[in-house]
Amino acid sequence: MKTLKIANIPGDGIGKEVVPAATDVLKAISDIHGGLKFEFTNFPWSCEYYLEHGEMMPEDGLERLKDFDSIFLGAVGNLKLVPDHISLWGLLIKIRREFEQVINIRPAKVLDGVRSPLLNPKDFDLIVVRENSEGEYSSVGGKIYQGEDEIAIQNAIFSRKGTERAMRFAFELAAKRRKRVTSATKSNGIYYSMPFWDNVFEDVSKDYPEISTDSQHIDALSAFFVTHPERFDVIVASNLFGDILTDLGAAIMGSVGIAPAANINVNGKYPSMFEPVHGSAPDIVGKGIANPIGQIWTAKMMLDHFGEEELGSTLLDVVESVTRDGFLTPDIGGKHTTKEVTDEIINRLKAVDKKGITSEG
Ligand code: NAD
Ligand code: IPM
Ligand code: MN
Repeated sequence: MKTLKIANIPGDGIGKEVVPAATDVLKAISDIHGGLKFEFTNFPWSCEYYLEHGEMMPEDGLERLKDFDSIFLGAVGNLKLVPDHISLWGLLIKIRREFEQVINIRPAKVLDGVRSPLLNPKDFDLIVVRENSEGEYSSVGGKIYQGEDEIAIQNAIFSRKGTERAMRFAFELAAKRRKRVTSATKSNGIYYSMPFWDNVFEDVSKDYPEISTDSQHIDALSAFFVTHPERFDVIVASNLFGDILTDLGAAIMGSVGIAPAANINVNGKYPSMFEPVHGSAPDIVGKGIANPIGQIWTAKMMLDHFGEEELGSTLLDVVESVTRDGFLTPDIGGKHTTKEVTDEIINRLKAVDKKGITSEG
């Protein structure tokens, strides 16, 4: 029997709706797969928690998380209660940084039954490897002067170590896929960091002669996502470029409510964190219509991470059978609720079991 200890942080907004939904799916998987058990512990850290305690998580929060096998997070952010830079840097970004979750893996493809703005949606099947620890997301900088002369300075940090690490991760991933890595650059306009990024990419690519490479400026690359999606297999991008590209990717998938993501600790010192691409969606919170698929697909990435790839792909197959048959939330043109879609996925998982998920771990 394999028991996995998961720290659930639903966070804010629809995080509180989709994390319980995906947790129910994982519980169903463990019910039908006798060899795998999840132990969930819930942490209420959120903007509401901040209002009560003056911080997004307690001082020993990281200490309390560090022995879990993984962290399963919904979304953070409630602008009505706390400014975003305080809530995000106090919880989501803090965990990514302190737990050295230096790589963010963000797959994107269009599921059957989900409408995409692309003419040939099946051409779109890629993974963005987002550098997750540095780049444009830095706390180095400051403000000078006052009044109309006020200046905000924000420094981007690109280390050879961090850049190379993200690129190697992308090459290793591409080796198991269609063997192509595209680098997202902007060395025509950004003077120091991006020419450096290009040099590192060139150096790293020499170690992977079997992988074909190209380098595209992020503006053109974004357009090619829409016009020539078949060109892409794995894309390696800086923190900010990867962030923007994956919301575009999510839109091509049909909705940001579908897109999954994983923040990976690669040195094994700390747990990884599984958290979808979307945010707390304040415009639909409380309506029961949040798309649970992003969080459920994220749970699939967590299963893969634990070496349960077969279960992971069964779960995604079941999710796709549900979208194919029209069980869709309103963001993707349907009328179904979070609960209806989740229940359908759980019922079908139970049916698959009769045909074959093994009951030995
Ligand atoms: P958002 O992703 O929350 O919402 C953008 C749009 O997508 C909204 O119309 C929303 O209703 C829709 N949407 C998002 N998820 C959906 C789902 N599962 N089902 C159906 N529709 C969905 O982005 P935003 O509005 O820019 O941000 C809202 C808050 O979330 C902000 O505080 C922001 O900082 C935060 N945020 C947090 C994370 C995170 O914690 N990982 C990610 C992005 C944004
Ligand atoms: C994401 C989010 C976060 C990011 C924000 C909320 C800080 O947009 O996970 O994509 O930019 O990393
Ligand atoms: Mn984002």
